[in-house]
Amino acid sequence: MPKVVLAGSGIAGLFAALNCADAGWDVCVITKQSLEESSTNYAQGGIAGILDKTNSEGKEIHIKDTLDAGDGYCDEKVVREVVDEAGDRIRDLINIGVNFQTDVEGNYDLIKEGGHSQKIILHSKDSTGKEIETALLSKAINHPRIELLSNHLALDLILEDRNSVDKKIIGLWVYDIEKEVVETFSADAVILATGGGGQLFSRTTNPSVSTADGMAMANRAGAELRDMEFVQFHPTSAAVNSDRPFLISEAVRGFGGVLMTSIEFKDWKDQDDIKNPEEFSFTKKYSDLGSLATRDILARAIDQELNFSGEDYVLLITEHLDKIELQKRFPTINDFLLKYGITLGVDPIPVVPAAHYFVGGISVNRLGQVINKSNGNVINNLYAIGEVACTGMHGANRLASNSLLEAVVYSSRASLSLNENISKYNVETTNELPDWRADGLENLVEHYSLIDDLKTLKMTMTRDVGVVRSNKRLNRALRRVNLIEKEVNMVWLSSVPTRSLIELRNMVQISLIIINSALNRIKNIGLHYNEDNFNH
Ligand code: FAD
Ligand code: SIN
Repeated sequence: MPKVVLAGSGIAGLFAALNCADAGWDVCVITKQSLEESSTNYAQGGIAGILDKTNSEGKEIHIKDTLDAGDGYCDEKVVREVVDEAGDRIRDLINIGVNFQTDVEGNYDLIKEGGHSQKIILHSKDSTGKEIETALLSKAINHPRIELLSNHLALDLILEDRNSVDKKIIGLWVYDIEKEVVETFSADAVILATGGGGQLFSRTTNPSVSTADGMAMANRAGAELRDMEFVQFHPTSAAVNSDRPFLISEAVRGFGGVLMTSIEFKDWKDQDDIKNPEEFSFTKKYSDLGSLATRDILARAIDQELNFSGEDYVLLITEHLDKIELQKRFPTINDFLLKYGITLGVDPIPVVPAAHYFVGGISVNRLGQVINKSNGNVINNLYAIGEVACTGMHGANRLASNSLLEAVVYSSRASLSLNENISKYNVETTNELPDWRADGLENLVEHYSLIDDLKTLKMTMTRDVGVVRSNKRLNRALRRVNLIEKEVNMVWLSSVPTRSLIELRNMVQISLIIINSALNRIKNIGLHYNEDNFNH
């Protein structure tokens, strides 16, 4: 049987794994940590899409909202196709066993988030991602054709001929984290579904596995990366002393939550009518949509207000809302906040922006096939799906809840493309795969310098390549990250790989690409804002 190796076990990887396995492929899913650890598992708000295929008006609104959020930079054809396919793919998820919230009459409880002008988001309260991940995983674990390998980290793709302009993938090297060895995996096709790279920044909503490995690996194999300067910062991560920034879903603002500075909050509390908080919100200065404006606008607005006030956070106000309903609707957020003495529907929540989503990524065509940067053709046998890929759907800024949707649509397309051609792969191959270069490498003894490099990298990316950029900041970041790259490469060439070394190398590589892309984008658009650009 032909074999497809999939890197990543979030929504994109697992959905494709199930489709390919059903069509007769032997599927091996390798994943870096535990099977469920992924951004998917933490998704809160939901998945956007019109279920009723005949609802053309609704679809047109979804298209317009996506194009508007993308600031005129989306590939409209891609947007139209994804929005059109949304109903079918969401129904696939439902058939797999995903339970979306319904109302008392049994209809799906559709909600609204920032940038949306209609209620089209399906959710499972505030743990939509966990619901999806759990349903997909339980199906994949029980599938006879799917092998799932946790604690396996995809390190590099193996090309049939490294020197040829036409490229063909024949396998990949995988670091077994428990055994601490690099293994060689042969594959008739490889699908990268390794997610984004929020960990490049010191403040991120992403889990520790999101270190942009897939993008770095694909780039080393000759893939084109695009739109890398568009890093989305979510405006509302809880500014409490937690191990990892915790997301306060945009759906809380969709429910009526309002953003204010501490002074605005005091002014609002001092007047009699508590029903009109939005009138007091700084967000109105930045967009007519106020607290429900798109993320690019809100993250910048918060950044600016914090610069003015010198404070560390702004406040998300919910006390004017029905406390019981709010806590029922957002149980995960409520439980989290309670640990910090904050009660949803009572206390203001301190929030700040955090790196959340990579809009850019590996450039793919409409089947999820990876584009070769040297000639614009596809790299044979290589696909990229989900957050690791860039399809053009999100333009310069992603609309809320469009990521899970895009992931599931492109996952389906990539697997269909493989399944339709399965007979071509059904021939015995005798490729001798080269082993990983292990000779002469020494065990890494001193780790402190790498830890320092990682801290500096994250701090530099946050301060100088964050929500508001300038030429000075970007150039400083370039100088610093170039130095870190030299250090890390020296260690890399002489050391037995470890998980942290592999990740740091990838993070440095992708940081440099982001910085250079940001320097090259001389017009402000969507998520990219450089105060030295003439049109700011
Ligand atoms: P992921 O779900 O991130 O999965 C990546 C997988 O790859 C993981 O299993 C990881 O361990 C593995 N991996 C990484 N590197 C390697 C490697 N080198 N080798 C092997 N495996 C590797 N989007 C929405 O549409 N709606 C929402 O409500 C929403 N809420 C969000 C809330 C949070 C807190 C976060 C962080 C994101 C949210 N997003 C949301 C974005 C969305 O969740 C992600 O973009 C989407 O889940 C990405 O899916 P994926 O399968 O591409 O990647
Ligand atoms: C959220 O719940 O605010 C996140 C939604 C998303 O990233 O699309």
